[in-house]
Amino acid sequence: MPKDLRTYLDNLLEKRPQDVVVVDREIDPRYEACAVVEKFERENKFPLVFFKKIKDSKIPLVINLGATYERLALALGSPTVPQMVKDLATMEHNPLPVKEVSPKDAPVKEVILKGNDVDLDLLPILTHNEGDAGKYINAAALICKERGTNAVNVGIYRHQKQSKRQLGLMINPANHGNYVRAEYEDHNEPMEVALAIGHHPALNMAAVSKQAGVGRELEVAGAFLGEPLEVVKAETVNLMVPARCEIVIEGVVPPKKRHYEGPFGEWPHYYYKEGEQPYIEVTAITMRKNPIYQSIHSAHFEHNIIGAAPRLGSLFRRIQEAVPSLTGVNMPISGAARAHCYISVKKRAEGEPKQAALAAFVTDPNIKLVIVVDDDVDVFNETQVLWALAMRFQADRDLV
Ligand SMILES: Cc1cc2nc3c(=O)[nH]c(=O)nc-3n(C[C@H](O)[C@H](O)[C@H](O)COP(=O)(O)O)c2cc1C
Repeated sequence: MPKDLRTYLDNLLEKRPQDVVVVDREIDPRYEACAVVEKFERENKFPLVFFKKIKDSKIPLVINLGATYERLALALGSPTVPQMVKDLATMEHNPLPVKEVSPKDAPVKEVILKGNDVDLDLLPILTHNEGDAGKYINAAALICKERGTNAVNVGIYRHQKQSKRQLGLMINPANHGNYVRAEYEDHNEPMEVALAIGHHPALNMAAVSKQAGVGRELEVAGAFLGEPLEVVKAETVNLMVPARCEIVIEGVVPPKKRHYEGPFGEWPHYYYKEGEQPYIEVTAITMRKNPIYQSIHSAHFEHNIIGAAPRLGSLFRRIQEAVPSLTGVNMPISGAARAHCYISVKKRAEGEPKQAALAAFVTDPNIKLVIVVDDDVDVFNETQVLWALAMRFQADRDLV
């Protein structure tokens, strides 16, 4: 049986049943679902929460899947979190080509909605935080094709629900998706997109991994799955979409058109970005007969952890290319798992720490501070890292 969200949930229930909370009663998609998850978070608990009934929708919701590194390690079959980082790096080195299947073998084609039948209100899209501009889809892997090269790029971006058939699209300028979009716009052409919602965590992890250059994420998803990602032709756009995901939303981004978007609670735990942004005109929704909708707990732990895990793999791979003596990489939750990076090296040559730090900065534009320590310091133990900073670091000599 090929892997997907359902096989992952079965595996989780078998191996870590204590990680799952099921809510039977009806829950309001406006704030309440996220409030339940936040209540757990305040008690230092980070379960995956399965909401069986979301008000005004027939589709259940899974959220907080990616809130712990342990659950993501389980997805990859890694025994420990430090090992997961190394495994992610190794897997990135060995991408697997996608495998095309016919629509009859694609569960995501069980229901096909086009034209006037397309209605985003069918989905239990959440309003996450009090200051958000509205309902947001935030766990979709957006697939698009680079103009000219046909390289397929994938990333997770936030999508404000702007009408029954319109979604916002906010891609940060330094992300590859924005380079792809801007190139279509320069030629006054629409960009075709497909949003894949609810697959094995491997897909979203690959979407967030930091690849050198545009594309490669679907093949990296195959590497994370340990088997080729099954894809099928989309209905209304010229793209291949994951055959075993729960829901696919197809659409086009019209060039040079904008719609007011934001604010939205984001990974730094602030609301940010509000203004004119491109948008998606939705052309089709395809899904399973009884789909599960997935969301990510925005501006909270899950947002940080699911965003960080694959980046750690990418960082490990790309720092190791510059510094073979690399032994560990972590982005601590104290820096929202994005802004600070701890690196350990078994130093064999002068200059290695500087090389390692620069490789980290080049790999991820979100990094603001890098601390490089010797390999006797555990980068996953912040107290040890800060001890090394206090005892082994002299700013006039060691600060770059
Ligand atoms: C939950 C979540 C939400 C995200 N939202 C956005 C977003 O709205 N805009 C954005 O540019 N990046 C967002 N990201 C980060 C991108 O997915 C990530 O940087 C990815 O590597 C971008 O891929 P690309 O460089 O191929 O475009 C988000 C990540 C996560 C985990």
